[in-house]
This record gives sequence, structure tokens and C-alpha cells, in this order.
Amino acid sequence: MAKVKITETVLRDSHQSLIATRMTTEEMLPILSEMDKVGYHSLEAWGGATFDSCLRFLNEDPWERLRKIRAEVKNTKLQMLFRGQNILGYRHYADDVVEYFVQKSIANGIDILRIFDALNDARNLKTAINATKKEGGHVQAAISYTLSPVHSNESFAKYAKQLEEMGADSICIKDMSGLLTPYAAYDLVKMLKSTVKIPIQLHTHYTTGIASMAILKAVEAGVDVVDTAISPMALGTSQPPTEAIVATLAGTEYDTGLDMAQLDKICKHFTPLREEYLKSGLLDPKVLKVDVNCLLYQVPGGMLSNLVSQLKQQGKSEKLSEVLDEVPRVRADAGYPPLVTPSSQIVGTQAVLNVIAGERYKLVSKEFKGLVRGDYGQTPVPIPAEFRKKIIGNESPITCRPADMLKPELDSLREAIRPYYEQEEDVLSYALFEQVATKFFEYRKAKKYGLDAENGDAAAKVHSV
Ligand code: CO
Repeated sequence: MAKVKITETVLRDSHQSLIATRMTTEEMLPILSEMDKVGYHSLEAWGGATFDSCLRFLNEDPWERLRKIRAEVKNTKLQMLFRGQNILGYRHYADDVVEYFVQKSIANGIDILRIFDALNDARNLKTAINATKKEGGHVQAAISYTLSPVHSNESFAKYAKQLEEMGADSICIKDMSGLLTPYAAYDLVKMLKSTVKIPIQLHTHYTTGIASMAILKAVEAGVDVVDTAISPMALGTSQPPTEAIVATLAGTEYDTGLDMAQLDKICKHFTPLREEYLKSGLLDPKVLKVDVNCLLYQVPGGMLSNLVSQLKQQGKSEKLSEVLDEVPRVRADAGYPPLVTPSSQIVGTQAVLNVIAGERYKLVSKEFKGLVRGDYGQTPVPIPAEFRKKIIGNESPITCRPADMLKPELDSLREAIRPYYEQEEDVLSYALFEQVATKFFEYRKAKKYGLDAENGDAAAKVHSV
């Protein structure tokens, strides 16, 4: 029986989920050489929101962070999260940007790209998958896990098969909100193992309190790799604790082979950091409690808090239960998108509008129109023509791969960043986050020439917000 392998998430998802992605490179560097000795399958260390956060909040160059991590981590594979055609941003980018981003990610040290699409539209993964193969990287294609009347183990297995045929080297079950219950995890992993030949990895969150049990049942069903976070940065909205999973499996046929004494060194590094995050307010104890609403309403935790704050702004807090009843209806109308960024915000906001206006779809957001038109790709079930007409009128729906409508972007972007150019990767930072990157470039330039950076004292800003 194969041993279970561990991906450690403390450098990416764990701090993204617990402290709004504010861990700095300086906080990571001193422990990386010890982490490299553990024998993890991989370190998830880059991508997701870390790129945006480096530029926006930390005054760090994300590419420089990756190179510094790579320099310390000589043996362990480095992994990143990649949002398909959205790369690490929030819209669809042209293929030339996606290809160049993949090329530079791998050139700067990434081994494994976990690539997903919010709608599970495989066409949105195509360019990223092909580029990763071309650059010699490992393609981990992820299934955005969700619950709905049209999603089932069979539909996920069919999607996994499609991803394998497109060239995926492994499949990830990506459970963003901790909705995957232990027995469902068992059945899903069994189904995937009997459908595809490539390894299966489980990524889940502790949000609903069931993630460790889900991992255990997935292990019994034959999952190959699981995601965990070192204990001081585990639980709550983060991943289950690494040490607890390692101890659970020790001495069994699934033994991870990881050494608890070595893990303790990692734990000791992050423990005082956790205390600092708590003291500064960056780590809000609220994110550490079990979110029962998530189990009740099957909406991600972040989405629920957005709904609450939107209603509060309108002075309509008493409408929350009506909105929670409206969410599944809006989702059904929109073809049952998985509720993950950006579809969770789009569906949630539309549900709020429907309730506040007192009439369904009297007010329709621009983003909801886009979702119905096909701007984000194909929804899990087609949207009925009649409903589509109600939302977008006589506009014609987009049925092709959305990125097919985008012209190459890189050349004009290269022109735009000429005054700031310091490295080839700068054009990619600019492509994804134009304003934020420009502000960072100005800060970097000022710093280089010893001027007072307009952004002020970067170090003081790190732990604010
Ligand atoms: Co996650």
C-alpha cells in the first residue's frame, strides 16, 4: 500500500485563509531550509492571492519572493495555485499572457501548477495546461468541489477523465469551503481512483470542522496526497494540522514517513508568529471557530460574511434568511455554478438585489449579466433561453471559449511599463494588476535611488488592515 504524501500549505493557503495573505517573505525565510528536510511531497508556496498581496499590501516583488524561496528549498517541489485563464487575477487574460506567466513561474522555481476553473469549464484550463506541459512542469488539474442537484461523483469523475485526457499529471479535489463530508470523500476518491490512472490529491478547509475526518476517509479510499498546514497556522478556515494527520497515519499502511521531531522545528518557528498575528489583530479568532452556517446553507464562509455586510450597508439585516433562501434559486437560474470566486460573489449579490428590490431580477448586476451571457465560460447546466433573454435581452450569448475573443496583450503592455522596467517578469505583474503594480514599481524605483518612497514606511504597513 502506498504511503500517503503531504503538501504543506503554510506558505500559501494557510495564511491566505487565516490572515488575509499577509505573511511576509522575511517571516518565511529562516525556516525554509528546515522545511526542505521534512520530506513533504510539495510546499504550496506561491500563487492564489499571494501575488496580489505582495504587490498591494507588502511592497514585495512576488517574483523575488519565489526566487528567494527556491534558493532555500533545494529538494522539495514548490507548488502554486493558478486560476486557469484568470491566472492570479480576476478576469480572463489573453493566451499570450497565460503562456508567458506559466513560463516565468516555472523558470523562477515552480514545479507543480494546480490549475482550476470556477465553473469547471475545461476550456478555461486548456492554455495553462498546454503551457505547463511545454515548460516541463507538473499539471495538477483541480475539480472545484461543490454540492448541487446537478453535481455528483459521476459528474466529477467525468470531468477528471476529461482533465486526464487533456494532459493532467494529477487531479486535485478542491473543496474551498469544507463541504466535503468524510463518507462523501470516501466515495468520491474511490470513484476517481477507478476512473483515472493519475494520482489524486485532496485539498479541503477546516471551516466546518470535518476536514480531518474527510482526509482520513479519503486516505482509506486510496487518496495519494493530502494538503495540511503546520499546527500554529492550521484549523479554522485553514487546513487540518500536519502533525495531527502525520500522527494519525503513523505505524499504519498509510504512514507518511514524516518525522515528528523535524515537524516540531517548523511548529516552533510559526508559534511566535501566530502570537504576533493574534496580538496585531491580523488573526481574528472568529476565523478559528467551526462555521456551522456553512454546513447549514452550503455557502462558503466568506460568501456568508459578504451577504451579512451587504445587507447591513443597506440597513436590511433582517432580510438575511430571505437572502439565504434566495441564493440556491439564483444559483439554479444561473446553471448551478460552483460557489467560489468570482461566482460566489456574483450569485450572492444578485440574491441580495432580488430580495431588496422586492421583485426578482428587477435589478441585475453587470457581473450577473456576464455570467448568464457566458463571459466566464459554460455553466454546469445550460441556462434556459427564456431566462437568458430576461437577463441580457437580445444580446447574443458567448458560446466559444471566452479567451478566444481576446487579442494578444503582451506587446502593448511591454510598451506601457517601459519607464519602470527592471526585469522581464514586470510585464506580467502589470498585466494582472495594472494600478497596484504601477504603484509598486514607483515604490521600488524610489527605494532604489534612496528617495522617500511615496508608499511610506512599508514595514509599518505590513501588519495593518
Ligand atoms: Co484552499
